[in-house]
Amino acid sequence: MNHEIVGFLATAWEAANAAGEIIRGSWQQPKLIDYKGAIDLVTSVDKECERTIVEMIRRNYPDHSILAEEETNLEGAQRDYRWIVDPLDGTTNFAHGYPQFSISIALEHAGQVIVGLVYDPLRRECFRAIKDQGATLNGSPIRTSAVNELDKALLATGFPYDRRENADFYLSFFKVFLIRCQGIRRNGSAALDLCYVACGRIDGFWELKLKPWDIAAGALIVAEAGGELSKFSGDQFTIWGDETLASNGSIHAEMLTALKLNCA
Ligand code: IPD
Ligand code: CA
Ligand code: CA
Repeated sequence: MNHEIVGFLATAWEAANAAGEIIRGSWQQPKLIDYKGAIDLVTSVDKECERTIVEMIRRNYPDHSILAEEETNLEGAQRDYRWIVDPLDGTTNFAHGYPQFSISIALEHAGQVIVGLVYDPLRRECFRAIKDQGATLNGSPIRTSAVNELDKALLATGFPYDRRENADFYLSFFKVFLIRCQGIRRNGSAALDLCYVACGRIDGFWELKLKPWDIAAGALIVAEAGGELSKFSGDQFTIWGDETLASNGSIHAEMLTALKLNCA
């Protein structure tokens, strides 16, 4: 591993670990909640974590750009490096004291994500990937599952924040998979859902309208663990698009066929 990458990963971990401390100390306490939309929450802890993470990145890489969900969009002098951060993925869970949330930190270089780290502070599980160098969970290599039929697959999904307005549309995808797979989970942290695909706890995941900070790190972790990512049409996946389909690879074609039937 070259020493530049070692430095990026060390910074990502230092920042995620500091945010993890804050989250562990606050998830069972009363929360200060603001509304970004009718059901789109943000707590003071989301913002505190973001400030902590951004400060650590800036201290080590003052010239890099940083895009974070809540209040940061900084353009650095070295514009080809951009950190993409979700300081707390799973805010609704966090606000309710439901123990499933994460911190997601990715580094993009010249438009490609080269480092991804997702940290579950309660289970103390740290998922990491480096472009072309594999993915790990707490330092041990991970691979996607060997399940090769949709019929035997456990899937996960999530619903965007405009679900009250577009419920039937989102439920049509849910129905397509509900009758074809073994089970579907709605865990509430897309970054962790992707990591669960990467380490074989689930076999496939789909969601619409995710943001780059939800998926930048998790998508690299899936790809580096041997999984596959695409749009619902099968076209090339991008963290800036509206459609995320991730799988262990073996059931990807079947998931695409099911989605095509729904979109026809
Ligand atoms: C949300 C979570 C959730 C997904 C939503 C995301 P947030 O992120 O990842 O699982 O279904 O679409 O927006 O708002 O908790 O950071
Ligand atoms: Ca998120
Ligand atoms: Ca968030």
